[in-house]
Amino acid sequence: MELEEVIYKRRTIRRFKEKPISIDILKKLIDFARLAPMARNIQGLEFIIVQKAEIREELFPLVRWASSLPEDQRTPEEGRQPTAYIIVLVNKKIKNSYYDFDVGAAVENILLGAVNFGLGCCWMGSIDRKGIRKLFIIPDYYEITHVISMGYPDEESVTEPYEDSFDYWKDDRGQIYVPKRGLNEILLKIF
Ligand SMILES: Cc1cc2nc3c(=O)[nH]c(=O)nc-3n(C[C@H](O)[C@H](O)[C@H](O)COP(=O)(O)O)c2cc1C
Repeated sequence: MELEEVIYKRRTIRRFKEKPISIDILKKLIDFARLAPMARNIQGLEFIIVQKAEIREELFPLVRWASSLPEDQRTPEEGRQPTAYIIVLVNKKIKNSYYDFDVGAAVENILLGAVNFGLGCCWMGSIDRKGIRKLFIIPDYYEITHVISMGYPDEESVTEPYEDSFDYWKDDRGQIYVPKRGLNEILLKIF
């Protein structure tokens, strides 16, 4: 897929097919993250891949879905839940400040790389960090920044022009609409 197509195609996906993702693909996504820009090239980001069904089941209740949607449309139902997760960690022994931008760049590499493999992702910040730390026995010197939930998409999401609300919404067929401000609204000036 061309990079331009990947960028336009990527939307947050929260419903997935049960088809598993190969470990080679998941490792490749971490490799994409490894090559992302990092401030001063200090590389404090580390990752956990979660694939096994019994561990996924334990992680699932520790992530929260789609707060903009009505409650009954938020959480993916059984059979449409993520088939893998990537947990994003900062090793504070390596880098203990100014890592937010590094995280953003690395996660976006993963999200775009995933689209290229036909996958969909949900970048999640609304997570139970305490519960995740306990489940995976993650030492205190790691900050748990996000979880990326992923799988082969079982829903469609498209952008629509922003009017008066940033809230994404779903129609009767389950298609998601994500309002985005227009290019002419955000491009302030050209010198
Ligand atoms: C830092 C960050 C945290 C997010 N956390 C969550 C989350 O906890 N749960 C969720 O369902 N979506 C989460 N999202 C996904 C956003 O809701 C989504 O990116 C936004 O609605 C725009 O949709 P799009 O990704 O399709 O452009 C998060 C996105 C970002 C960038």
